[in-house]
Amino acid sequence: MTGMPLFCDPDLTVADTLRVSTGGVGVVFADLGSLRDHLLEVPDDDTLVLGPGVLDDEAFAVADYMRVHRPSLGVVLVRREVTTPLLQEALRSGVREVVHERDALGLGTAVQRSAHLAAAMRNQPGALNGAAVHPQAGSPLSPPQGVPGRKATVVTVFAAKGGCGKTTLATNLAVALADRGRARVCIVDLDLAFGDVAITMHLVPSNTIADAVPLNGKLDPTAVEALLTHHSSGLSAVVAPTEPSAAEQISPGLISHLLEVLRAEFDYVVIDTPPSFDDQILAALDVSDVIALVVTPDVPALKNLKIAIETLTELGYPADRLRLVLNRADAKVGITHAEVERTARMPCSAQIPSSRDVPASINRGVPIVLDDPRHGVSQAIRQFASSQLPQLASSLDRYTQVNGHTGHDAGTQRRGLMKKRRPRTS
Ligand SMILES: Nc1ncnc2c1ncn2[C@@H]1O[C@H](COP(=O)(O)OP(=O)(O)O)[C@@H](O)[C@H]1O
Ligand SMILES: [Mg+2]
Repeated sequence: MTGMPLFCDPDLTVADTLRVSTGGVGVVFADLGSLRDHLLEVPDDDTLVLGPGVLDDEAFAVADYMRVHRPSLGVVLVRREVTTPLLQEALRSGVREVVHERDALGLGTAVQRSAHLAAAMRNQPGALNGAAVHPQAGSPLSPPQGVPGRKATVVTVFAAKGGCGKTTLATNLAVALADRGRARVCIVDLDLAFGDVAITMHLVPSNTIADAVPLNGKLDPTAVEALLTHHSSGLSAVVAPTEPSAAEQISPGLISHLLEVLRAEFDYVVIDTPPSFDDQILAALDVSDVIALVVTPDVPALKNLKIAIETLTELGYPADRLRLVLNRADAKVGITHAEVERTARMPCSAQIPSSRDVPASINRGVPIVLDDPRHGVSQAIRQFASSQLPQLASSLDRYTQVNGHTGHDAGTQRRGLMKKRRPRTS
């Protein structure tokens, strides 16, 4: 039996308009009490659309309850205004998607996605708790599109200091590489405790990397598909856990395994990181073709850059994988880009200007590369993507030649080394 979408709003006309706008199928309710009675009787309904008249707190409480007691029921929230704090709260409570009340098309797609996911979960009970979910047709991991032997270019954005612009670069780089759906790109948020890729990109994920923990050892493309959140620009994301404490459960082995699957399915994998070297990040660096080191023109950032380069060199990462990205390059703080290059002993591959439009775009939840493609920041990031990354896509065998299948051994040795010497990262 297939499920029906349910629509709830204190104003029944509004609930019915929502129903009609998604194709006219479903049941409408004016209050949460009668909705609950219906849910107790009918176990197969797959989507619950809460209209703009349902209060935020009530909606979050419903989502929170459903994700435990009815995980296959996707809660979609329709709001008059979609703000970052609202998205944050929605994310925490388990709301699957938030749609603006005037976005009828978006609502239709959200309802369809929810139905697909629920059908997959019915076929494979417990999918989100451990087993696999069938990918949606046309989604990046669906097997027919997979190219045998494909290996994505993996780019890790790193800095041993917070606030340099790692997330800004990673999210915009991913969008630039996706090039409106021309390339298959996945961004992975490995800032496991405090990752903000989801918020920065206005994503409302139903799963995070923490959902991969019970799948350890069984991560295949189909299972990994269930971890992905899709962005309107065409890129996919594996987002960080909502609870910082979940970070500890994510082992370096799990990260290696996840990245191995993603590498086989995408053209590019872009990894955002926390400002520290740890075994989880080393697992990502081990499979990275490019390590973009972000630095801002200030003394603490330069000091940390020097330590980061020394540590990476000591750990055996080849210098030709490193790229220096000077963010806020024009900030008038007395350190020139020549001084940065002298300290790093390598040229800057990109210079991103400083602009108030960057935090403004983050607050809007739209990467500046999409929001204002002609902006100096967008141009610098696109230029970095096109000058430093495309040639790698065709010469990825280089990676295999350098590391062979013994890449894991090299990684294990590095981790051994890290136990001996943990760099200062503040
Ligand atoms: N080029 C830039 N111009 C102005 N502000 C920037 C720029 N790059 C980053 N920022 C701001 O700096 C802050 C930190 O950036 P973020 O990307 O989150 O850093 P990280 O991920 O390294 O901690 C954010 O508020 C962001 O808006
Ligand atoms: Mg960050």
